[in-house]
Amino acid sequence: MTDFVLDDFVQELRSAARSDDAKKTVRSVMDQAFKDPESIRVAMPEFESDDEVLFEDDTVSIWYVCFEPGLHVPPHDHQTTAIIGVYQGAEDNHFYRHEDGQMVYKSSRCVGPGEVISIKPDGIHSVEAANGENSYAIHVYLAALTTIERSLFDWESGKPRPFNDENYDALKRVSG
Ligand SMILES: [Fe+2]
Repeated sequence: MTDFVLDDFVQELRSAARSDDAKKTVRSVMDQAFKDPESIRVAMPEFESDDEVLFEDDTVSIWYVCFEPGLHVPPHDHQTTAIIGVYQGAEDNHFYRHEDGQMVYKSSRCVGPGEVISIKPDGIHSVEAANGENSYAIHVYLAALTTIERSLFDWESGKPRPFNDENYDALKRVSG
């Protein structure tokens, strides 16, 4: 029995994003929904692309995101709070610090079905699908992500570059 309805969830996130403590309220809406990842999985439509903007305005950007094995999304920031919930498969999130002209690896977190993580605006991560399977998630950003000037970072030097398709393609790691 599923009670997850994507349109309703998007509306809930939109009002949470307009609340006084958007970070906390959106996180709690996400935590609540992802307690039952299976109901999200069965309710999500099939998308043709690997990522899809489900909604965006000045307060919130809501995405469907699928990562396929063999692609490692290069280190990047978001310049706004990111709240990520996985409903199928798992995302390996690797976190870094840019320090003295070097990229310093901090930690990794494998985010599986039913788990939600929050990343601070200056947090730097790279992401790949875990365990050789596609990962499926909803990513929420507390601003209009498509209009934000943010950065990709060189894997070794940590040197920032504008986040655009050209730099993304140059830095992405593809294997398999
Ligand atoms: Fe990200």
